[in-house]
Amino acid sequence: MKTVLSIGFLFCCSFLLLLLDSSTSLPLCVDSRAPFSLNTTLKFCSYNGSTCCNSIQDAQIQKQFQVMNVSDTACASLLKSILCARCDPFSGQLFTVQSTLRSVPVLCNSAIPANSSQSKASLQDFCSEVWDTCQTASIINSPFSPSLQGQGGKLPSNTNGTTLNELWQSKTDFCNAFGGASNNESICFEGKPVALNNNESQINPPHGLCLEKIGNGSYLNMVAHPDGSNRAFFSSQMGKVWLASIPEEGSGGQLELDESSPFVDLTDQVYFDTQFGMMGMSFHPNFANNGRFFASFNCNKDKWSGCNGICSCNSNVNCDPSKLGTSNGAQPCQYQTVIAEYTANGTASQPSSAESAKPSEVRRIFTMGLPFTSQHGGQILFGPNDGYLYFMMGDGGGTDDPYNFSQNKKSLLGKVMRLDVDNIPSASEISKLGLWGSYSIPKDNPFSEDKDLQPEIWALGLRNPWRCSFDAEKPSYFFCGDVGQDLYEEVDLITKGGNYGWRVYEGPYPVTPTESPGGNTSLKSINPIPPILGYTHSQINKNEGSASITGGYVYRSTTDPCMFGRYLYADLYAGAIWAATEDPENSGNFSTSKIPFSCAHDSPIQCDSVPSSSLPALGYIFSFGQDNNKDIYILASSGVYRVVPPSRCSYTCSQEKAATTPSPSSSPSPSHASHLSNFYGYLFLQLSFLLFLLMCLM
Ligand SMILES: *[C@@H]1O[C@H](CO)[C@@H](O)[C@H](O)[C@H]1NC(C)=O
Ligand SMILES: *[C@@H]1O[C@H](CO)[C@@H](O)[C@H](O)[C@H]1NC(C)=O
Ligand SMILES: *[C@@H]1O[C@H](CO)[C@@H](O)[C@H](O)[C@H]1NC(C)=O
Ligand SMILES: *[C@@H]1O[C@H](CO)[C@@H](O)[C@H](O)[C@H]1NC(C)=O
Ligand SMILES: *[C@@H]1O[C@H](CO)[C@@H](O)[C@H](O)[C@H]1NC(C)=O
Ligand SMILES: *[C@@H]1O[C@H](CO)[C@@H](O)[C@H](O)[C@H]1NC(C)=O
Ligand SMILES: *[C@@H]1O[C@H](CO)[C@@H](O)[C@H](O)[C@H]1NC(C)=O
Ligand SMILES: *[C@@H]1O[C@H](CO)[C@@H](O)[C@H](O)[C@H]1NC(C)=O
Ligand SMILES: *[C@@H]1O[C@H](CO)[C@@H](O)[C@H](O)[C@H]1NC(C)=O
Ligand SMILES: *[C@@H]1O[C@H](CO)[C@@H](O)[C@H](O)[C@H]1NC(C)=O
Ligand SMILES: *[C@@H]1O[C@H](CO)[C@@H](O)[C@H](O)[C@H]1NC(C)=O
Ligand SMILES: *[C@@H]1O[C@H](CO)[C@@H](O)[C@H](O)[C@H]1NC(C)=O
Repeated sequence: MKTVLSIGFLFCCSFLLLLLDSSTSLPLCVDSRAPFSLNTTLKFCSYNGSTCCNSIQDAQIQKQFQVMNVSDTACASLLKSILCARCDPFSGQLFTVQSTLRSVPVLCNSAIPANSSQSKASLQDFCSEVWDTCQTASIINSPFSPSLQGQGGKLPSNTNGTTLNELWQSKTDFCNAFGGASNNESICFEGKPVALNNNESQINPPHGLCLEKIGNGSYLNMVAHPDGSNRAFFSSQMGKVWLASIPEEGSGGQLELDESSPFVDLTDQVYFDTQFGMMGMSFHPNFANNGRFFASFNCNKDKWSGCNGICSCNSNVNCDPSKLGTSNGAQPCQYQTVIAEYTANGTASQPSSAESAKPSEVRRIFTMGLPFTSQHGGQILFGPNDGYLYFMMGDGGGTDDPYNFSQNKKSLLGKVMRLDVDNIPSASEISKLGLWGSYSIPKDNPFSEDKDLQPEIWALGLRNPWRCSFDAEKPSYFFCGDVGQDLYEEVDLITKGGNYGWRVYEGPYPVTPTESPGGNTSLKSINPIPPILGYTHSQINKNEGSASITGGYVYRSTTDPCMFGRYLYADLYAGAIWAATEDPENSGNFSTSKIPFSCAHDSPIQCDSVPSSSLPALGYIFSFGQDNNKDIYILASSGVYRVVPPSRCSYTCSQEKAATTPSPSSSPSPSHASHLSNFYGYLFLQLSFLLFLLMCLM
């Protein structure tokens, strides 16, 4: 058992290394922020639409160019394009090589064998062109100086040369230093704005999503065991966590989860009501060794003395707590949001083999009083590359975010936060810094460049982020479903310091607040990042008269090859599922379509066992999960479903043949794990029916 676990761990770690090596990512500027969209054309650099420069930076580039006083007009024109590549929406990739910022972008060099997503037909040997054109031209403060590149040129001691001939021995040396691409899918600069290839085969949506039902329970969270094994944790809104073994796909097995013996039971701490409960959980990336895990839940001041955070409505954010909570008799900030740390130590020889944990809190990471009773997100996730804890927080409720919390840079409501839980400061340090709990602030959080921001904030302008995920193959893609109010449900790609617009915008639509004691943020004063995907409320068949997005995952399993690389998400009430495709790859441009789904004929549990006919096929879709094989699960009110090969539902997928998966011939094996009787299952379903109203998250 131990060997298996450590092999799993090794596999997990080497996989992570592979990820870190990958340089392909979405358009980002050199400061790791998303490009923004301009409604004019830059005067000097002529970029329009999506760009990384505003008019001030454009003017700075112009000045830098003028100082160079390039003696040759053809060379001057090339140099201008090179300097202006700073404004390219891909400037982050063009100027960053192995985490080092360069003075010039990577110049396309056909001497290097090319296979990239960039348009091959037009790829030229731009590096040669620059050398040939600029060889003898004088350039003051040349950006091609060897000292700027940190690599030996012809005259390393003389940095005052003005021509390439003076600075470099040969074209080969020059292009070894500045040329590059198109290997390992990185991109290069060829004198004009980066253009990517479309990939026709990606555009056609798959015929359908085939599901098998492997569990009857209703859960809000599923997290793969960090040891890389076939196990995962499931948690209920009431506050119980179970450790389950996941049956192999096609084996006919069901989820081995014993409802009567949870991994940990936090129901004494968790306040559970329609809109409240345990919203998130996360296991430290090194859980298998350190046993650390975290729960994110709501508490009630009246019921638990540990529920004692500062109120998010306070004078720092123009909010008067005495005006809160009068509608249902609640005190100001009676309900709070908590992240608490627990340990799996002490119940097994090693944390990775622990099958239970004590519900006693090791440390309080975060506590904050909530202004109203809805929209408080609560998911927590460790960033796969940086190891920081991302905490998704809604605007806290109320129509139109009346106190302007989401846009208020001093408020933590309506934000994605980013916390370091590996370096816990001393109690005196915590109070000196005015933190909301025991964590430290990553140095490169956006406040380092914008002092107005509370230091915890990673992104702002969200209404109620409900289910976010990092693409397992491209961790720079951080997707969040953000629940809308009256009109539009959206998916955002979360980037450093990004403002996603709420409550100035709901999706693409400007919002006119009916009531705004917290003041208004004008349309002009912000530059929001638009959603990459979404749907209007009129586009779906609304159940319960409402709509609420449930964000999912980029499908990275080989089980359904036709789904590979597509982002799956759903509407909680409508029970509809979409699959979105990025096209061209790495462009950040997505198209989407609603996709049909059905139950595998040989599903271990029949899918039609939902007793209530008014519900959509799977009941309500609360969440998605991903296991250590990257297989994707749907957590619905009616049970747990896994995405399986399309052939098991008779959907055609031409890529599937190669995989030669024999479909299981045995009939579904009987359950030997769950203690739920049908009757209890039915009761549970009815109960959960009430709960997501919770949820919603509306
Ligand atoms: C690209 O591949 C080359 C070798 O093929 C390697 O030396 C280089 O480090 C890679 N670059 C990145 C950014 O992965
Ligand atoms: C561009 O922005 C200006 C002011 O910000 C506005 O007046 C103008 O209508 C906008 N143009 C377009 C095409 O959106
Ligand atoms: C952006 O620039 C391109 C090429 O220079 C031009 O064709 C296009 O019309 C411009 N778009 C706008 C909105 O100015
Ligand atoms: C720019 O270069 C030209 C010759 O190409 C020279 O006559 C002029 O003085 C230079 N200007 C500056 C400001 O160096
Ligand atoms: C590059 O792509 C071509 C086909 O597009 C393929 O034949 C070739 O093997 C690829 N080369 C590398 C190094 O991947
Ligand atoms: C390079 O130029 C700077 C100022 O323009 C001067 O101080 C320095 O001595 C020069 N170096 C050489 C090696 O000529
Ligand atoms: C197009 O997408 C398919 C499916 O993901 C992939 O196998 C193929 O390599 C892609 N082709 C190119 C040229 O990127
Ligand atoms: C749990 O055990 C690990 C490894 O033995 C140790 O590093 C860690 O400090 C322990 N945590 C607690 C809370 O006792
Ligand atoms: C609303 O938020 C914006 C953005 O932070 C801020 O400029 C404005 O002052 C806020 N309004 C009030 C009344 O605090
Ligand atoms: C905010 O905007 C709304 C509608 O545009 C307006 O009715 C309200 O008076 C404004 N509130 C404040 C405090 O400016
Ligand atoms: C974005 O994707 C859509 C749908 O695939 C496509 O029609 C459009 O051309 C793409 N836009 C860009 C800028 O590539
Ligand atoms: C789930 O429910 C079905 C039908 O009600 C039952 O046959 C099956 O044994 C149950 N499975 C589990 C794991 O509870």
